[in-house]
Amino acid sequence: MLDLKKGLELELNVESLAYGTKGVARLNGYVIFVEEALPGQRVRAQIVKKKKGYAEARSLEVLQQSPNFVEPRCRHFDDCGGCLLQNLDYPIQLASKQRQVAELLEHIGDISEPPVLPVIGSPQIFFYRNKMEFSFSRQRWLTRAEIAGNDVKLPKDFALGLHARNRYDKTLVIEDCHLQSAMSNEILGVVRAFTERHPLLPYTTFGHTGFWRFLVIREGKKTGEVMVNVVTADVPEGREAVQQLAEALLAKFPQITTIVHNLNRSKAQVAIGEEEIVLHGTGHIHERIGAFLFRISANSFFQTNTEGAEKLYAVARDFAGLTGEETVYDLYCGAGTISIFVSSQAKQVVGFEIVPQAIHDAGVNCRLNEVMNCHFVLGDLKDELAQVPILTRRWGRPDVVIIDPPRAGMHPKVVQKLIELGPQRIVYVSCNPSTFSRDVKELSMMGYGLKKAQPVDMFPHTSHIEVVGVLEK
Ligand SMILES: C[S@@+](CC[C@H](N)C(=O)[O-])C[C@H]1O[C@@H](n2cnc3c(N)ncnc32)[C@H](O)[C@@H]1O
Repeated sequence: MLDLKKGLELELNVESLAYGTKGVARLNGYVIFVEEALPGQRVRAQIVKKKKGYAEARSLEVLQQSPNFVEPRCRHFDDCGGCLLQNLDYPIQLASKQRQVAELLEHIGDISEPPVLPVIGSPQIFFYRNKMEFSFSRQRWLTRAEIAGNDVKLPKDFALGLHARNRYDKTLVIEDCHLQSAMSNEILGVVRAFTERHPLLPYTTFGHTGFWRFLVIREGKKTGEVMVNVVTADVPEGREAVQQLAEALLAKFPQITTIVHNLNRSKAQVAIGEEEIVLHGTGHIHERIGAFLFRISANSFFQTNTEGAEKLYAVARDFAGLTGEETVYDLYCGAGTISIFVSSQAKQVVGFEIVPQAIHDAGVNCRLNEVMNCHFVLGDLKDELAQVPILTRRWGRPDVVIIDPPRAGMHPKVVQKLIELGPQRIVYVSCNPSTFSRDVKELSMMGYGLKKAQPVDMFPHTSHIEVVGVLEK
């Protein structure tokens, strides 16, 4: 038996893709996860970690190219942490994601032969995002080309862009991203030029100093409306600085619908503010999903792939199997998008959500779409569901519950209460197949069987995959 110690170099045939984009190779039946390796490649790799049941390696050289390799379109591909699979043919990305969902349901969900349908692909595989979040940093990632050519032109202590590949502490300057739109790239360029020269520095958690934190650009792909959201720390001269930036942006891009300034005073590196200042327009934009128009505020969740969301919501509506007679609970409802999408096929929908702005938008969205049978409850679900009898007296017992939690999945107390609510059918929309599999296992121990799972690819070229599962009593 070969001793796979750290540093060892060896040649490997990469067979498949594991969840998270590492290639999977086998040596005498022993699994080796290879970073930056594609299925079908033969690579020279170096072991970087040895664990009990597997090893990790990184690819040093491609000895034989995969038949499924495609030339990446983006010039930042080698350095960017954004689209790690851009060099893998899209149908193979989809097939890999279907297998990954099935494997997770098997291993974490304890389901043998899980009923996972072929992945529904994204209608667009480039420029598909309606929202991009760029970070400011004092630690710029030096690109592989810069290092190889010994040609460092940009300052090392300023960056506005995306996380570098496998390096969350470093930010890669992005000039031309293939995820949002050409205008988004231009806005990014203007903001970078302005902030790079500005005396205020990017924020850093070390010492909790500096100012610039995030730039979030949202575009209504179907409406053409554009929001620029500048997230900063709160320093005395900061408000004036963002005001000047807003003026510079509007002079160049009159098509920007709204500009907001969010103040994040906490150390948490999130692009959400505790205080929002509207500098231009109304502070929100609109987007259309299917037949419905939705209002989006800076701090509300909204699916980032508009056309993908239409596919996703159609699957959720189909799996809900509604006849018009049902009471539906929509847990983690955000701005009420799924509630509204299924509303015409239900007697009533009750949505639950923790973010006040999202609940406010949900009400506005009902009015915008002339939907009268949706109601929204603001609060943390684990508190809101605590008193099931009170809830069901108020809203009636749900026949169908749709859940769409954040990546962490459902809180155990929410799972318990969901069982107590006892719907006939649960439609689980998930952006994380690992926590989905964990929660499905929990639900199946309580009498809900997974009937089918439909992955929908909302995030081409990345490791992410959305899944809709339907569980029945
Ligand atoms: C993945 S999003 C789904 C939103 C919506 N279904 C959609 O498709 O746009 C998850 C939502 O759960 C909300 N959320 C997170 N934790 C929550 C909690 N403990 N209680 C209620 N809502 C929560 C978030 O604010 C977010 O809007």
